[in-house]
Amino acid sequence: MASHRWMERAASVIFSLAAVACGDGGESGSLPAPEADKSPETLAEEALSPPAASRSTRGPAFHYEGSLADAIEFFRPHAGGNGRSCATCHRPEDNFALTPATVEARWQRLQQRRRIDPAADDPLFRPIDADDFANDFTTLRTKALVRVTLPLPPNVKRADDPAATTTTVLRAVPTVVNAAFTAPFQADGREATLDSQARAAIRSHSESTNEVPAEVIAKIVRFQRDLFSSVRVARMSRALDEGVVPPSAEPTLDAVERAGRRTFDEFCARCHGGPTQTRNTDARFLPVPARGPLASGAQAFVNVFVGTPRPPPPALAPPLPPTPRFFDGLPTAGLADTAFRVTLPSGATVPTATSDGGRGLVTGDFREFGRFDVPTLFGIDRTAPYFHDNSAPDLDAVIAHYQAMFRFIAFLDLEGGFFAPEANGQGCAPGACGIRPVPDAEIGPLKAYLRRLGR
Ligand code: HEC
Ligand code: HEC
Repeated sequence: MASHRWMERAASVIFSLAAVACGDGGESGSLPAPEADKSPETLAEEALSPPAASRSTRGPAFHYEGSLADAIEFFRPHAGGNGRSCATCHRPEDNFALTPATVEARWQRLQQRRRIDPAADDPLFRPIDADDFANDFTTLRTKALVRVTLPLPPNVKRADDPAATTTTVLRAVPTVVNAAFTAPFQADGREATLDSQARAAIRSHSESTNEVPAEVIAKIVRFQRDLFSSVRVARMSRALDEGVVPPSAEPTLDAVERAGRRTFDEFCARCHGGPTQTRNTDARFLPVPARGPLASGAQAFVNVFVGTPRPPPPALAPPLPPTPRFFDGLPTAGLADTAFRVTLPSGATVPTATSDGGRGLVTGDFREFGRFDVPTLFGIDRTAPYFHDNSAPDLDAVIAHYQAMFRFIAFLDLEGGFFAPEANGQGCAPGACGIRPVPDAEIGPLKAYLRRLGR
C-alpha cells in the first residue's frame, strides 16, 4: 500500500509547515495552487508531510496519528456539493483554522487566475455563507468570518422580522486540532458530537443534498480525533478516552514559564481548567439569578464580553452606579447588532441587541445571551486571531481584553454585589470574590506559558 511508509512516519513525527508566504513580501505568484487543481490524495499528503526544510517556529505544528485514508476525506470535496471540502475552510497552513491572510491570498490568486481564465473558481468564495450579500466577500477577506444560519428558539423573535424563524451570525473558523476532547462543538456548543457536526457542515457549507455515506463521515471524524497539537496532548487525550488518570500534557517549563503557569492557574484556569483546559468549574463567573449551583466539574458556557455591544449595557439594572467603560479602545470585530425580543418563562418580553447571542440563540434562555463554549488553549500560539469573531488579533489583545473584564467584574462586585450568593446561587459575598486584573509584571510570564501550552 502506497501510504504504508507514510503511516509509519506519522506515528512518531510532529508535522509542521511553514506559514504561507504572504504579508512577508511574498509575491502573489508564489501562492499555493488552489486546492481545486490537486487531488484530495495529494492535498492530504502535502498537508501532513511537508518537506523538512519548510519547518518553522511560525505556522502550524501538529501531531497526527491516523491514516492517510482518513485524512483524504477531510480534503475531498463533498459529492453533490458546491466544490468545498472540510479543508476549504479548515486550512492546514493555518493549523486547521482560517486566517484573514490566507483568505486574502486566495482571493488575490483567484483574481489573477481570472485574468487568464474568466471561469476560474475557488470554492472558498461561495454566496451561501461568505459573500456579505454583496458578492464582495469583504468580511471573509478582512476578518475570516463565515456566515452561520441558526434556527431561532420559539421564544426568540427578531425585531426586524418577527415572523423569521432563523437568524445569522458571523463566526470564525475554529481549528479542528484537539477536537477529540473539545465537545460540545461550535462556539455555542450546539453540536454534541463530531458526527453530527460533520453532517451539519456538509449540508450547510457544502450545500450537498446527497446522503453522505456513513463510512465517509466516520473517516472525517477519525481524522479529527487523531489530530492533536502535540504528542503529549495526544497521550493525555487517549488516557481520558480510556478512563485512566491522564498524564500532564505540559512540556518541560523554564522558570519564567513556571511563573506564568502560576498566573494562569489564578486567572485563567477557572474556566480553561482541568486536563483539557476547557472546563469551567468556577461559579463566580455565572452571575445569573436563580441559576443554581454548578455541579463540580461541570462545563458551563460563559460570557467573557467578546461580542458587541460590550458592557456596560445601556440599561444596567439599578442600584448600580454609572459604570466606567472598561472595554473602550480594545479591538472588536465591528459587526452589526441584531435586535431580538425574548419571551421569558414568566411571559414578560425583554429586548436585547447583540452581534452574537451565542448560547442564548440555542437555548432561548435570556441569561445565556453572550455566552460561549470555553475553548481549549492547547496549541493556542498557532491559531491567531482569537475569539468567536476573530476580534483579538494576538495574545496581547486577548490579555488586554481579560484585563478589562477582570476590572469590570471587580467593579461590579464591589459596587453592586453582582456576585453575591443571592445573585448567583452560590457565589461570594459582595466585594469578596477576589477577582482582580493580572499584575503587570506577571503578563510577560503568562504569555510565555501560553506559548508553551499544548506544545
Ligand atoms: C465554509 C467554511 C467551512 C467549511 C467548508 C467547514 N467548516 Fe467547520 N466550521 C466553520 C465555522 C465558521 C465554524 C464555527 C461555527 C460556529 O461556531 O457556529 C466551524 C466549526 C467546526 C467545528 C467545531 C470546532 C469546535 O471546537 O467547536 C468542527 C469540528 C468542524 N467545523 C469540522 C468541519 C468538518 C468536518 C467539515 C467538513 C465536513 C467542515 N468543518 C467544513 C467553517 C467551515
Ligand atoms: C470566565 C471564564 C474565562 C476566564 C476566566 C478566561 N477565559 Fe479565556 N475564554 C473563555 C471563553 C468563554 C472563551 C470564548 C469566548 C468567545 O469566543 O467569545 C475564551 C477564549 C479564550 C481565547 C481564545 C481562544 C480561541 O481559540 O480563539 C484565549 C486565547 C483565552 N480565552 C485565553 C485566556 C487567558 C489567557 C485567560 C486568563 C488571563 C482566560 N482566557 C480567562 C472563558 C474564560
